[in-house]
Amino acid sequence: MSAAESSHPLPERFAEAGQGQVFAFWSQLSEEGRRALLEQAAEINLDEVARLVRTLLGRGAAPAVTLNDLEPASYVPRPESGGEAAAWARARAAGEEALRAGKVAAFTVAGGQGTRLGYDGRKGTFPVTPLKRKPLFQVFAEKIKAAGQRYGRPLHWFIMTSHANHAATEAFFAAHRCFGLDAARVHFFRQGRMPAVDFDGRILLESKGVIAMSPDGHGGSLRALHRSGALDLMKSEGVDTVSYFQVDNPVVRCVDPEFIGWHRLQGAEMSAKMVSKAYPEEKLGHFCRQHGRLVVIEYSDLPLALQREIDPQTGRLRYGSGSIAIHILDRDFIGRMAAEPREGAAGPVLPFHRADKKIATVDAAGNPVQPGRPNGAKFEMFVFDALPFARNGLVIETQRADDFSPVKNAEGMDSPQTAREDQLRQYVRWLRSVGAPVATDASGLPAFDLEVAPRFGYDEVSFAASWEKLTPKPAIADGLYLE
Ligand code: UD1
Repeated sequence: MSAAESSHPLPERFAEAGQGQVFAFWSQLSEEGRRALLEQAAEINLDEVARLVRTLLGRGAAPAVTLNDLEPASYVPRPESGGEAAAWARARAAGEEALRAGKVAAFTVAGGQGTRLGYDGRKGTFPVTPLKRKPLFQVFAEKIKAAGQRYGRPLHWFIMTSHANHAATEAFFAAHRCFGLDAARVHFFRQGRMPAVDFDGRILLESKGVIAMSPDGHGGSLRALHRSGALDLMKSEGVDTVSYFQVDNPVVRCVDPEFIGWHRLQGAEMSAKMVSKAYPEEKLGHFCRQHGRLVVIEYSDLPLALQREIDPQTGRLRYGSGSIAIHILDRDFIGRMAAEPREGAAGPVLPFHRADKKIATVDAAGNPVQPGRPNGAKFEMFVFDALPFARNGLVIETQRADDFSPVKNAEGMDSPQTAREDQLRQYVRWLRSVGAPVATDASGLPAFDLEVAPRFGYDEVSFAASWEKLTPKPAIADGLYLE
């Protein structure tokens, strides 16, 4: 052991925890390599890793998800599906009041790896609109700016990146001057990472001086909001309500007054939006109640037989209430959920999920190994696992067309093509709502391209307001861009 190593407490701590292999190649590393390894090692909470190895990998480990005592969760239906219109109007008014008072911030999780889309972890830069090919980040930026103008209070926008895409994301915004937003109100921070372990619980090295680390899941956003100082900043700015959405969804209403209002009027600490699943195998989480608490059971965890089960009373899917990963969270609730657990300490703890993966690593001699089958596990937290800890956790219905058309796959379902078509259909609906005729096919798709800039309209209400002021009204034809 070298002088530098023996003078640093970390290698010894790792050795005591049975993780000494992390420093196996120490003597072969340059000064810089050693510093980088120590820095990585310092990110790791060894107690937490030991707990996860024991509870998720150990013999007799309890399954992360159980299905006993499960039933579908209830939700607030929209007026079109029998909900009380006056209550929705009250919610809208309460949400608008909160926006006018500057109590709401937007929050995007953009730390995913974008593997399915094949877009190299920078999904927010993916060109997504039909005519102008605006990237996802620009779409959100313009919606957030327009909402700030509408309610007379510019919004703060928090964006969670990963280690892999942080610098590229900041550079992208800088190159585009934050798409017209005040840079002082756009905040980037990196999410945390977790080490991958082999099936005996030993932390894996990716190469001799690099630990195999990966993002800790979007649930890690709660800790990252706390760690980065974002929660403190919100507090000093009078923000108490956080509007959470994923980077992959161009039609999302970044701040939806009805949703915000329902959350606040019900005194919820965390709320979620649901849509009816389009088909039983659709890859959405399911809103359920378990042991009296609101939970989301992921599509991969709910057996297909249950996903296909029909409720004999309604003739519809029994577990048909799908999560589209849009949430409202109270700032103080995030703070409570963000605490990293200490061994044996009480308090709410967001669970980790285990995902077995093929993890590139090195053998005992330090030679690279590319495994052909899973050789270890990664650990991730999911933000919806906070729901059961929330006081008055709430689910409200939304119309899919107004909130959800994700870009997840390169082709087919949930792809750039489907998102493009859903945006076009949305513009057509807005145009028709103000009496402008547009010819479409049976699926609501026009025969030509058009686009509505968020500053002209980012929902039906804001679109109608701009349209009314527009003189003369433009011809609805190919290439129409309303801005
Ligand atoms: C997710 C939800 C699913 C929901 C669906 C709706 C999970 C596990 N499942 O599925 O319940 O019905 O979206 O679209 O999330 N991200 C990070 N950091 C990470 C991992 C992910 O920021 O470490 C972000 C991604 O950038 C993306 C979002 O989280 O914005 C979703 O991640 P993804 O892995 O694509 O989730 P899905 O499997 O599509």
